[in-house]
Amino acid sequence: MLENLEPLPVDPILGLAALARADTRAQKVDLTVGVYMDDSGHCPVFRAVQQAQHELAQQESTKAYLPPAGDERFNAGMQQLLLGADSAALRDGRVSSIQTPGGCGALRISSEVVFSASPDARVWVSNPTWPVHIPLLGSVGLAFQSYRYYNPVDHSVDFDAMVEDLQAARPSDVVLLHGCCHNPSGADLTLEQWAVIADMAQAQGFTPMVDIAYQGLADGLEADAAGLRLLVEQLPEVIIAASCSKNMGLYRERTGAAVFVCQNTQTASRTLDQAKAAARRVYSMPPAHGALLAGRILSDATLGTLWREELAQMCQRINRTRGELRAALQQHSGVDFAFIERERGMFSFLGLSIEQAVRLREEYSLYMLESSRINVAGVNADNIDYVAQSVAAVL
Ligand code: LMR
Repeated sequence: MLENLEPLPVDPILGLAALARADTRAQKVDLTVGVYMDDSGHCPVFRAVQQAQHELAQQESTKAYLPPAGDERFNAGMQQLLLGADSAALRDGRVSSIQTPGGCGALRISSEVVFSASPDARVWVSNPTWPVHIPLLGSVGLAFQSYRYYNPVDHSVDFDAMVEDLQAARPSDVVLLHGCCHNPSGADLTLEQWAVIADMAQAQGFTPMVDIAYQGLADGLEADAAGLRLLVEQLPEVIIAASCSKNMGLYRERTGAAVFVCQNTQTASRTLDQAKAAARRVYSMPPAHGALLAGRILSDATLGTLWREELAQMCQRINRTRGELRAALQQHSGVDFAFIERERGMFSFLGLSIEQAVRLREEYSLYMLESSRINVAGVNADNIDYVAQSVAAVL
């Protein structure tokens, strides 16, 4: 039977990361996967996570299953982090959430719930979007539409085109939005633009699904949730897929949450039941370790303060690196790279062709996605000149 399987193309992100790992050339620079790297090119464990882990190791007395919705402290902490402690939706008891294996699990469970509620739903995705959105949501059976989002010529959001396309979204449809740090472009909506989308959702009746995998890495935890919170204030329904991979560095612990803001308490509870049933079909119970750590950090003032400080430093380093990279690229190539400094989060497109990206990888050991998406956090003082010179050489 298994010999009937067709060979698959390599994953557009992980496949290149594997190539980079296998490259033994000394000058290698890997800017493929969206993982935060510090100045020494290392993906660190947050000190807040280390402390929480130490406490957990001392106190943990069982490895019995978590309940299907996951750890209560984690879910409550994530709801507050996303919606704000003074959220009216939280106060009104119209929010439910389930702990999931990473942000991918949150997207998958959300899609399962959407499919149960509206099998004809079409999911509108930005062009471009994170390449995994399509197989992840599509495997549930949902259909897709795409809306224009990024204009590669002037490296900015083509908001007029986005609005024009979304005018065709129906009440049974879902519009997938990136809460902040748009992956892959780094080009985010302004608050005014979020307000327009909120008005459209209200008038047309579509449901926004906000993938917010990078909260805290654009302009800070509160600022990065502002667009999402604006939707939640105004609309009866918003679906949120959140992750602690990036903002707590819990990548391998697979820690995320699907949060459902609903019209009322009864719908929130029914939605949670559907989410739990979906989880039962797919993986039964979520993994505990990462959520127990995150739950501690989010509910403990000392750990929480430490975590917020560490995250703010990461965010500053990424934004500082954006400025330095812009300057180095301009210096070596004479080309205007101002957009890199305007964009936010880990990613930006360098605006190269596939051939140029392939040349960089093969001749210069400089790895980025074939779309020329780079992980800005992988740039540091040791490699920045090499990166800029190599890019200039293929331009
Ligand atoms: C990325 O876009 O590089 C990250 O979100 C990691 C992944 O799973 O693709």
